[in-house]
Amino acid sequence: MIEAINIRKSFGDKEILKGISTVFEQGKTNLIIGQSGSGKTVLLKSLVGLHEISSGDIRYDGQSFLDLDNTQKKRLRQDIGMLFQGSALFDSMTVEENVRFPLDMFTDWSDEKKRERANFCINRVNLENANNKFPSEISGGMQKRVAIARAISLNPKYLFCDEPNSGLDPRTAIVIDELIHEITKEFGMTTIINTHDMNSVMGIGESIIFIYQGNKLWEGTKDDIFHVQNKELEDFIFASKLFKKVRDNNS
Ligand SMILES: Nc1ncnc2c1ncn2[C@@H]1O[C@H](COP(=O)(O)OP(=O)(O)O)[C@@H](O)[C@H]1O
Ligand SMILES: [Mg+2]
Repeated sequence: MIEAINIRKSFGDKEILKGISTVFEQGKTNLIIGQSGSGKTVLLKSLVGLHEISSGDIRYDGQSFLDLDNTQKKRLRQDIGMLFQGSALFDSMTVEENVRFPLDMFTDWSDEKKRERANFCINRVNLENANNKFPSEISGGMQKRVAIARAISLNPKYLFCDEPNSGLDPRTAIVIDELIHEITKEFGMTTIINTHDMNSVMGIGESIIFIYQGNKLWEGTKDDIFHVQNKELEDFIFASKLFKKVRDNNS
């Protein structure tokens, strides 16, 4: 569980996050939704400590992030898997080397053990037989799988994903969403996903917060999102043509 408590973040005199509080639950895909520019990426980076927040608090399973010393922060970072925009794979490394990279960086495991773990993760994302390929030799969807395998290589308690299916065709996007959802359940991770994709919302939106201009305007699940009377949220939902059609057919 990760708690955000009244998080504010400014750059210069521009306040981007205006007091966001919520709880991201363990074993769930927690979605942060909102239009481009609403503050999703700034919020995600603030939660993992890549941005220093202006005020508020962040608690990882009850422990305040701000109270940790550097050693404790380093330890916590190893419990965090990150899947940021783009796949950010190393082009000059094979699939297996990419997945092994965090193990080489953060563990003192034997070669054998690292290879085993890398292979477990590669198989988990259904990429068997791709170990020796380079990122340029595989599709965008496969690259995303490699990035997921790498993100879970250290068996993280927390998984952060920024627009994990951007740039993928709709069908592949759903497969990637489903994969993230499955591994979240399987490993009991607290997963937080930024998205502006309504297909993701309807697919894996078991816990959702809606951000508008740095404020949290709504939270709920995919089952109640269509029953909310909120102009900004409706504008967000029906900005997508498909969902406009659903609404028009229902009215
Ligand atoms: N490092 C930064 N310095 C100044 N402004 C920033 C910085 N990062 C993001 N912003 C601003 O914060 C706002 C929210 O950005 P962002 O979180 O990236 O939106 P989203 O991810 O929802 O599309 C934007 O107006 C953006 O210009
Ligand atoms: Mg963003």
